[in-house]
Amino acid sequence: MFKFEGANILSVKQFDRESIEYLFRIADAMQPYAHRQKQTKVLDGAILGNLFFEPSTRTRVSFGTAFNLLGGHVRETTGLSSSALAKGESLYDTARVLSSYSDVIAMRHPDSGSVAEFATGSRVPVINGGDGANEHPTQALLDLYTIQKEQHAHQAGIDGMHIALIGDLKHGRTVHSLCKLLCLYQNLKITLISPKELAMPDEVVSAIENAGHQCVITEQLEGHLDADIVYQTRIQQERFPSEEEANLYRGKFRLNQAIYTQHCKSNTVIMHPLPRDSRADANELDNDLNLNPNLAIFRQADNGVLVRMALFAATLGVQDIVNRYETQV
Ligand code: CP
Repeated sequence: MFKFEGANILSVKQFDRESIEYLFRIADAMQPYAHRQKQTKVLDGAILGNLFFEPSTRTRVSFGTAFNLLGGHVRETTGLSSSALAKGESLYDTARVLSSYSDVIAMRHPDSGSVAEFATGSRVPVINGGDGANEHPTQALLDLYTIQKEQHAHQAGIDGMHIALIGDLKHGRTVHSLCKLLCLYQNLKITLISPKELAMPDEVVSAIENAGHQCVITEQLEGHLDADIVYQTRIQQERFPSEEEANLYRGKFRLNQAIYTQHCKSNTVIMHPLPRDSRADANELDNDLNLNPNLAIFRQADNGVLVRMALFAATLGVQDIVNRYETQV
């Protein structure tokens, strides 16, 4: 099994099924702390360096919240232009310095491979919060945790399920990481719905096929939404050469309640890593789905705190002693 304590979390390729199940058991145990039914100070005195060199709402704040809920403190920097990287400092030097101020570092950066490069200079564990279009391992873990929970509610497991992924599959790092994790399971049907210009990279398609899954590649929504999970994504405008080019694809695959009723199963779960682009010309996930009980997007975001608490506890080696540091609520 993958040894979490002291390890960098850079790619989902590090995990096997046993280590994911282990991590999810820790995430389950974090629920009373995340829901404020219990308090723990197990990471009292520890510092998270939360370095976000690219915009974020959920990942940045949920990393910070998770660390606070374990009793630790958070130091942040946001934006490339306000860091010394803008003065030409290398990722290695930044890592050497900031890792002496922190016990663990979470980092997002616009370049693929940047977090791994940073980790070569770090003296503490580094967790990838998203590196360009490459990977978003903690999002994939929380997505998989959500899929498992939602499927459990329907008395089903992950093996044998049908998951349809929609949108900008070329640039979407969340779907790259999620597909790689799904390769650890068995007999899946994975439907990839995108314009052909935004198709899933060959490397990921090959991984799906080599895992023995059925992989369907299509440009059509209709006829492909009768899945257990429909995972919608945003057109990643920031990865296109221009806004005009991104606009060619925005709004191409909209989901709303009428489409859900016509094309999905009655229990199809809808997921999205968020943010959803709710501008009128995109509107990939209409607000009229907000009352649909199978819309899991906010439960998914909530699960991010549990999974990130579990990752901090495991990488810092306190997963078994959290309750020893409980204080009264
Ligand atoms: N899902 C996700 O990565 O969201 P943020 O960009 O808000 O962190």
